[in-house]
Amino acid sequence: MATGLLVSDHPLLNDLYCFNLRTFVDVHLRVVSTFDEALRFIDEGSQGDIIITLSQIEEQDAGLRVFEALEDSKAATPLIVIGERSKISNTNKAYTLPPNLNVPLVVKKVASILGVTAQDMMKVDVPEFYPIPLSIMQAFSESPCSVYVKVSKSSDSNDYVKLCEKGANFAGKVQAYKEKGSVNLYIPADQRLTVTSLASRMVVDALDDPEIDNQARIRVIEQGYDIVGGLLGESQEVTPEVVQISKKCMEEVTNIVKEVPRVKNLLLSILENKTGYLYLHSVMGTYVARHIIKEISWGSEEHAEKLSFVFFFHDMFLAPIFSKYPQFQFEEDLVFKEELTEKDKEIVINHARLASEMVKTFPRCPMGSDAIILQHHGMTNGMGFTLDYKDDISPLAKVLIISECFVEELIRRKGMPNEPKLDEIILSLREKFTKHTYKKIIDCLETISF
Ligand SMILES: [Fe+2]
Ligand SMILES: [Fe+2]
Repeated sequence: MATGLLVSDHPLLNDLYCFNLRTFVDVHLRVVSTFDEALRFIDEGSQGDIIITLSQIEEQDAGLRVFEALEDSKAATPLIVIGERSKISNTNKAYTLPPNLNVPLVVKKVASILGVTAQDMMKVDVPEFYPIPLSIMQAFSESPCSVYVKVSKSSDSNDYVKLCEKGANFAGKVQAYKEKGSVNLYIPADQRLTVTSLASRMVVDALDDPEIDNQARIRVIEQGYDIVGGLLGESQEVTPEVVQISKKCMEEVTNIVKEVPRVKNLLLSILENKTGYLYLHSVMGTYVARHIIKEISWGSEEHAEKLSFVFFFHDMFLAPIFSKYPQFQFEEDLVFKEELTEKDKEIVINHARLASEMVKTFPRCPMGSDAIILQHHGMTNGMGFTLDYKDDISPLAKVLIISECFVEELIRRKGMPNEPKLDEIILSLREKFTKHTYKKIIDCLETISF
C-alpha cells in the first residue's frame, strides 16, 4: 500500500479521488483543505509517496506553494497539479492534469508514477445507470448502494466513475457537493426501486418529526417532490406510496407558505437551500396564487386548496427531465435545447397533458384540478406552450399562469445588480397579458407583501 496527500477543498473531487485511487492503485490519500495543514505534513516529511493538489485554492496558487514547500524540505515527492491556474502548471516542475472529474486519467497517471501496471488494476463491469437527484441522496447518511458520478458532459457517453460503495459515510456530503456546483449522482438501475422506497420512508418520517425546523423542512419536501417525480416518470401510476408522500408534502408546503410573511423571504430561504427550479417555482407559485385567491372577489379557501394541489403536480413530469439535464433552468427553455433527446422533448411538450391524466387517478383529486393542470401553459389540449393567452381557459388556470409568471420574473431578476421591484414585475406582467380577465388577476398582486 502506498500513501499520499491530496490538497483540495473540493468535496466531491476528494471523495472520488480517494475512493478510486484506493480501489485501483491501492494508494491511501490523506486529504487536507488548507495550506497550513499541507505545509505541516510536508515539513514533517509525512506527505507519503505522492502529492496531488488543485492548482488554486481560495484564489491562491496552491501548486506553487506546495512545490516551494517540497523544495524547502528537499523532498523529491512527485507532484500532480490539477488545473492550469498555477505558475507551475504545464512546467517540468509537476505533472499537470485537466481540471475536470476525469478520474480514470488521474488513476492512470498515479499508477504510472508509482509503477503500478495495468494488470494490477482491477477491471470492473459497469452496470446500467439511473440518475438520482442530489436532494434524494441527501436523505441518506449512509450510501444505500454503490453510487456513481458521470464524468462526461455528452448525453450518450457512458463515462461513469464510482464514487463510493454501499454503506459509505454520506452524512452532510451531498449538501457540500451541491454547494460546489451541482452534479447528478447515479445508481445502478436495478437498485432504483429499493433506494426510492427507502428514501420515501425517510421523508415521511422526517416530516412527522415536530422538532424539524423550516429550513430542513424545505429540503425534506424537495426530496419528497423529487421522489414523486421519479416514481411517476417511471410508471405514471399513482401508487399508495405516491399518494402518501404527495399528501404529506402538500400539507407541509401549505404550512410553510402560511407562515412566511413576505414573498422575498420565501424566495431567499428556498434559494439558500439551493433547491431546483421546479420545486422552487412550485412552492413560490403556491404562495402567490394563495394571495391572489385571498384578494379576488370570487376566491374561496376551496380554490386555494385546489391551487396548492395543482401547483404540486402541474410540472411533476418535468422532474426527471430537470434531474437529467441539471444545467437548464426554465421550463419553456427546455423545448429548444439540442441536448434533449426526442423522447424527452416529447415529455416536455406533453407534460401538462400527462400530469392532468395522472391526477385524475389520484384519490379524492379536487374537482377540476385536472383541467387547470391541462391548461397551465395556456393550451386547452395540454400540448405545447402558448404566447397568446386566451380567454377560453378556466379562471383558476389563469391564476396559476399569472402566479407562475410572477415567480419567473422574480427569479430572473434575482441576482441582477438592482433588487427586483414589485412595480416592475407587475408592469411586465401587464405587457404580457393584455386580456381583461387576466388584468383583474394581476391587479390582486399590487397588495402582495414583497
Ligand atoms: Fe410550471
Ligand atoms: Fe409546466
